[in-house]
Amino acid sequence: MQRLFVNTSQVVTCAGPARARRGAEMADAGVLPSGAVAIEADRIVAVGRQAELEGRFPHAERIDCEGGVLAPGLVDSHTHGIFGKPRFEEQELRAAGVGYMEIAKRGGGIHSSVRDLRARSEDDLYALAVPRLAKLMAHGVTTVELKSGYGLSLDDELKSLRVIQRLQAALPVRIVATFLGAHEIPLEYRAAPRNRTEYVDLLVHEMIPTVAAERLARFADIFCEPGVYTLDETRRILGAARAHGMLLKLHADELEPSGAAELAAELGATSADHLAAISEPGIAALAASETVATLLPGTMLFLGRARQAPARALIAAGGAVALASDFNPGTSPTVNFPLMLTLAVSQLKLSVGEAMVAATVNGAAALGLAAETGQLAPGFSADLALFDIEDIRELPYWYGDHRCRRSWARGNACHA
Ligand code: NIG
Ligand code: FE
Repeated sequence: MQRLFVNTSQVVTCAGPARARRGAEMADAGVLPSGAVAIEADRIVAVGRQAELEGRFPHAERIDCEGGVLAPGLVDSHTHGIFGKPRFEEQELRAAGVGYMEIAKRGGGIHSSVRDLRARSEDDLYALAVPRLAKLMAHGVTTVELKSGYGLSLDDELKSLRVIQRLQAALPVRIVATFLGAHEIPLEYRAAPRNRTEYVDLLVHEMIPTVAAERLARFADIFCEPGVYTLDETRRILGAARAHGMLLKLHADELEPSGAAELAAELGATSADHLAAISEPGIAALAASETVATLLPGTMLFLGRARQAPARALIAAGGAVALASDFNPGTSPTVNFPLMLTLAVSQLKLSVGEAMVAATVNGAAALGLAAETGQLAPGFSADLALFDIEDIRELPYWYGDHRCRRSWARGNACHA
C-alpha cells in the first residue's frame, strides 16, 4: 500500500550518507519547504515536491499533514526504561547538597532501584514499561534503546531483558536492547565475604555468555566512572561482551574525567555516552574514532550540575554527536525528547539543524542503525514524526510543550 504525506509546511529530511554525520556535516538537516513524502508499506520510496509526488503516486492514500512539520521519527539511543518505582526522594537530598555518588554510597541511587526491581515480577515490569514507552512515542520517538541494569544478578537481568523482548514484540516503536549488568557493583559484592572481582567474574563467565546465547541484547554497556567500574574492569567486561558478538557502549566521563572516552574509542565502541566531564585528550580520541558521542543534557539539568558536555568542542574536532533522553528514575525521569532539543540549543549551543541531526541520523548511528532509520530518504524505514508547528525551529522553542501530532514506525502508527 502506498501512502503520500501531503500539505506540510516543511519536511526535515536529515538525508545524506547512511552513517553518522561528523563535525561541520551536522549543520545541514535538509529542510524542504512544503515537501511531501511517499511510503510503500514499511519503506520510504520518495521525498520531494508535493506536485511532483502527486504525479508519480496518483493512487496513493493521502495523509494530510495540515500544515505541520514532518521529520524523521526521533531516535532515543540511551534510556534505562525498565524500572519499578520512581526515586523522587533523592531530588531534595541533592538540593540539600548530598551528591549523586554520596546517595549511592548510602545504598540509595541505583541500589535503591535494584532492590525494588528484584522484588517485582516480569509481568509487573512489563505493565509499568508500556505506558512509559507510550509517552515517549507520543513525543515523536520511533526508535528507542532500552537498557537492563537494575537487576544486577543473572536472573534479574534476564527478567529485565525478557521484558524488553516482550515490548519489542508488542509495540510499534523499534526497540534496541542493551545489557547493562555492569551498571553498578551490587551491594552484596561490595562487602565481605564477597568482593567486586567475583561480580566481574560472574558478568564475564555467566551473565554475558547467557545473554548472548539467548540473543537478548545487541549491545553491552557499562558505567565506567570513578567509584563504579574501573578502566581495567571495563576492558575485561567489554572484552568478554565483544567476544560474544555484542556491540559496545560506555557510560563515560559522566561526573569525573577518567579516560573512559579514550577507552571507548580504543575499544571501537559504537557510542560513548554522557561525557560531561570528558578531557581534551578524550575529545581528540573520540573525534579520531568512529565512536558516536551521545550527549544527555537532561541528566545534567536534573542533577543540577553546572557543567554540560562540551558539544561544540566535540563537533569542532570533527566528532559525531547524538542526543538522547537517558530516561531513568534517578537522573533523568523525563520522556520529553523534544526537551532534549531545547537543552541541546540552550545548553550545548547546537544549532537547530545540528540538534535534529543529533536526534535522528546520529542517534541511529549510535544504535548501529544508520542505514535503516533517522532519515527521510528513499530506502529508509518509514519512521516519521509529524509536529504541530510551521517551522522546525519551533520544536526546541516551545520548551516542555507537547507538539507531536502523529508518528509512524515502519509505516505503522506509533502515536495518533
Ligand atoms: O545514565 N550513570 C549511570 N546510569 C544512569 C543513572 C541511573 C540511576 O541513577 O538510576 C545515568 O545517569
Ligand atoms: Fe544512562
